[in-house]
Amino acid sequence: NLPAHVKIVEVGPRDGLQNEKEIVPTSTKVQLIKMLVSSGLTVVEATSFVSPKWVPQLADGKDVMDAIRNIQGARFPVLTPNLKGFEAAVSAGANEVAIFASASESFSMSNINCSIEDSLARFRDVVSAAREISLPVRGYVSCVVGCPVEGIVPPSKVAYVAKQLFDMGCSEISLGDTIGVGTPGTVIPMLENVMNVVPIDNLAVHFHDTYGQALSNILTSLQMGISTVDSSVSGLGGCPYAKGASGNVATEDVVYMLNGLGIETNVDLEKLLLAGDFICKHLRRPPSSKTAVALSSK
Ligand code: HMG
Ligand code: MG
Repeated sequence: NLPAHVKIVEVGPRDGLQNEKEIVPTSTKVQLIKMLVSSGLTVVEATSFVSPKWVPQLADGKDVMDAIRNIQGARFPVLTPNLKGFEAAVSAGANEVAIFASASESFSMSNINCSIEDSLARFRDVVSAAREISLPVRGYVSCVVGCPVEGIVPPSKVAYVAKQLFDMGCSEISLGDTIGVGTPGTVIPMLENVMNVVPIDNLAVHFHDTYGQALSNILTSLQMGISTVDSSVSGLGGCPYAKGASGNVATEDVVYMLNGLGIETNVDLEKLLLAGDFICKHLRRPPSSKTAVALSSK
């Protein structure tokens, strides 16, 4: 019982690059976004409007948004942790934003420097400001199966935070296995809990691949009725506030699997591989999706 079509939310330019120590030039980020859009991806998370002291790599959010303003065919959501970020994003031309809560208290403190409840209060302000100008808001829940400090995160806590985000007006809730510790064994009970309180059509999954479990977790999620999947070109990424978290699942590998399942994505794998090559050359490392490695050794 698989969906006929899957919407991929490409998070490479944000989740992928935010963890890179060396500052990537704005023009390279913009070229990457252009290549991702021309591969057929319709949602590309472009940057963040967070404190530049916390994430120096994305301090050029405004310039990135300026440069991609006229690109047709895709939406470019950006991360906004508070009203200050929201206002900066809107003045930079953002037409979609994302807020990011955590299901773990410790991760909430280390990522956004406040408790879960305080963050939800801030996010309510962001969502109501967004609603006034009819801007859609995506809500992330981080640490949905495990936290770097607290270990196992109870599914009931994930469901609670997801429902809070949905009730305040988020149109899509992305469930993030921030440190990539989940397996279908922990992902299934988590999704069952969340699906009891948020409609399945409003859910997305966001897997990091630390233990190589991301594709299994995605397939399991699809079988449970999810049809929106986050991924990052060439598996770039990690989280600066989650030590040891490796990259997101690679978009190339997700597309390869979905192609194999006969699920429509509208993404041209060849063009996507070129985008992966482009950014990896810039970062001076070999392309790291399994698909790129397999095809380059042919
Ligand atoms: P804080 O230090 O508690 O904030 O940080 P503050 O309100 O006390 O402000 C401190 C300074 O930051 C002030 O400047 C503010 O003006 C400034 P100063 O007076 O010192 O010069 N400031 C801002 N500047 C620009 N944009 C803003 C902004 N807000 C305040 N929006 C804060 C709190 C939330 C700002 C900080 O903790 C932060 O920016 N955190 C972001 C961390 C982040 O981006 N993490 C990665 C994304 S989440 C993730 O990757 C997980 C996800 O992928 C899902 C998954 O994998 O599970 C989404
Ligand atoms: Mg992430």
